[in-house]
Amino acid sequence: MKDSSSNHAPIYIILLGAPGAGKGTQAEVLGKRYGLAHISSGDLFRENVSKQTPLGVLAKSYMDKGELVPDDVTIKMVMERIARPDCARGVVFDGFPRTEAQAQALDAALAQENKKIGAAISIQVRDQVLIERLTARWICPACSTVYNLLSNPPRVAGNCDKDGSALGQRDDDKPETVRRRLDVFRRQTAPLIEYYRRSGFLRDLDGEQSIEQVTAAVVNIAQTL
Ligand code: AP5
Ligand code: MG
Ligand code: ZN
Repeated sequence: MKDSSSNHAPIYIILLGAPGAGKGTQAEVLGKRYGLAHISSGDLFRENVSKQTPLGVLAKSYMDKGELVPDDVTIKMVMERIARPDCARGVVFDGFPRTEAQAQALDAALAQENKKIGAAISIQVRDQVLIERLTARWICPACSTVYNLLSNPPRVAGNCDKDGSALGQRDDDKPETVRRRLDVFRRQTAPLIEYYRRSGFLRDLDGEQSIEQVTAAVVNIAQTL
């Protein structure tokens, strides 16, 4: 795949990884570079939470505990999202699918339109590093830029580089919720690594390199598609 100015059949890339693996960070770069829609199921839920929609109220009750939102509502939300026009060039999925039922629903939806996944990139990071990253993550409430006190700090402590807003933390980045999310990932989402390995789409990637090195590796994979 070339950059966003070229013509190409739509591309679907899945970023698979534990909480804090860097899915959101890399999806943002990849989406912009290749003109792909960045679909984060977590961001979609958080938008609903902040607008206090019925979906948001339901999702929050699971997110606060570090549990997965039920498959039926998650699948419906993402299927509606991929039908939107900005997905014409393709999609980079961040945090979806997370269960085998979600993966099957995505496969079926793409197959119906004679499309298929290009790559499922498994970004691997050890738990200790994930916990350190998530407790050091700060986010701009105005523009959603993500910072990290250890690896990617803002220029002025506590404020966004782009608009100066006071940075905040995610409710589910509390240490006990982080541990629960990691546990849920191992039990419910990690089996998807084998699911995509069996279908031949899996690409493994060392997620403990610097953000720039991980981007380079992700771009290398995208260029083969
Ligand atoms: P979601 O929002 O998807 O959260 P998550 O999977 O827990 O992942 P994170 O967003 O925490 O991490 P990330 O991999 O995006 O890392 P990031 O790039 O920010 O889901 C939240 C909740 O919503 C779930 O718990 C569930 O309840 C619900 N949900 C969502 N999707 C669902 C689904 N499909 N089904 C059911 N329920 C669902 O990076 C983390 C930090 O590290 C940042 O500070 C960043 O700057 C830093 N960093 C990134 N890369 C590097 C690097 N290479 N080196 C050093 N630091 C780095
Ligand atoms: Mg994320
Ligand atoms: Zn900002």
